[in-house]
Amino acid sequence: MDRKIRVLVTGCDGQIGRVLVPALRERHGEMEVVASDLREPEVSGPVATLDVTDADAVRALIAREKPDHVYHLAGVLSAVGERDPGRAWQVNLNGFLNVLEACREHGVSRVFFPSTIAVYGPDAASEATPDDAPTRPTTVYGIAKAAGENLAAWYRRRFNLDVRVLRYPGVIGWESLPGGGTTDYAVEIYHAAVANETYRCPLSAERALPMLAMADAIRGTIDFMAAPAEQIRQSTGYNLGGFSGAPQDFVAAITRLMPTFNVQYQPDHRDQIAASWPAGLDDSAARQDWGWAPQFDIDSLSEEMLAQCAAQLAARAAALAAEVAGRRYDNVERLQRKAG
Ligand SMILES: NC(=O)c1ccc[n+]([C@@H]2O[C@H](COP(=O)([O-])OP(=O)(O)OC[C@H]3O[C@@H](n4cnc5c(N)ncnc54)[C@H](O)[C@@H]3O)[C@@H](O)[C@H]2O)c1
Repeated sequence: MDRKIRVLVTGCDGQIGRVLVPALRERHGEMEVVASDLREPEVSGPVATLDVTDADAVRALIAREKPDHVYHLAGVLSAVGERDPGRAWQVNLNGFLNVLEACREHGVSRVFFPSTIAVYGPDAASEATPDDAPTRPTTVYGIAKAAGENLAAWYRRRFNLDVRVLRYPGVIGWESLPGGGTTDYAVEIYHAAVANETYRCPLSAERALPMLAMADAIRGTIDFMAAPAEQIRQSTGYNLGGFSGAPQDFVAAITRLMPTFNVQYQPDHRDQIAASWPAGLDDSAARQDWGWAPQFDIDSLSEEMLAQCAAQLAARAAALAAEVAGRRYDNVERLQRKAG
């Protein structure tokens, strides 16, 4: 365990932060990782309330906590961003600028910026999209993230600030729920399957996108931030690939284990967003430069997702049953006291 590094995480209460913070605490020690979000996170250890669009608050928190590394997860995701472009821009770009400025002023040595496959637009190669494909996105989310990548490169050049950028695909995990992205369906579908519900899929059956298991995303992020600076050769961001999957591939993987699972395709605006993104990533630069290697494919991830989501459902049912039984017992006791 490396206890010498103090870490600040912004946006810790989202899909990725809820898993990344415990992993960082495992590595650096619970008291060395400050978890911040808009509302005070309900986790033990150091926590803070932080709105990244408030430059003074960002500066004050970084001055107080003196982190060595900042993982800047705060963000507004693609589907939500298309509905509220002003907020998406404020949080995803201006919030990042606030964080970079405060990091520069207060001597933070390394910053992590999670970019996205949404930086690519329809003119990027759809299959095995390389890191250096054109970034002409068609969503506000992608536009702000592409600008963020350029901002990161500028801080690296101008101030020698070690800002590291990964382009995540859709991240799939059982530990937390997604926060309004176009790939949310790939988490929701497993929860629907174990609840024995028909899943209404917002993407068309054949709409393939790059995807990544949460466990791989967390391990890749931590390895990337721990890599020696000379191994990070890219000026923009590294694609972090896992596998390519369309809704029909997830359905096939699920029905192999749950043959009665049912899905209805009801494509909405998210299908249009997905149509502008790559179907698969070329992540060879990350593999070569700092040793990236994902472990999950769609079948092994589906087995894990179904087992873990089913266990969660069973635990919730057991807790509910215990609560109901407790109330029933209290009622019986009350009635008995009244009667006797
Ligand atoms: N989850 C994915 O599949 C995925 C894919 C590509 C990139 N990313 C990026 O990774 C990061 C984390 O993603 P996530 O899935 O955990 O997102 P999420 O939506 O689940 O969580 C984002 C968190 O940011 C917080 N937040 C929003 N506005 C804020 C503000 N003004 N100040 C401080 N915090 C604020 C929210 O409260 C939330 O807890 C984001 O920047 C996102 O763009 C995620």
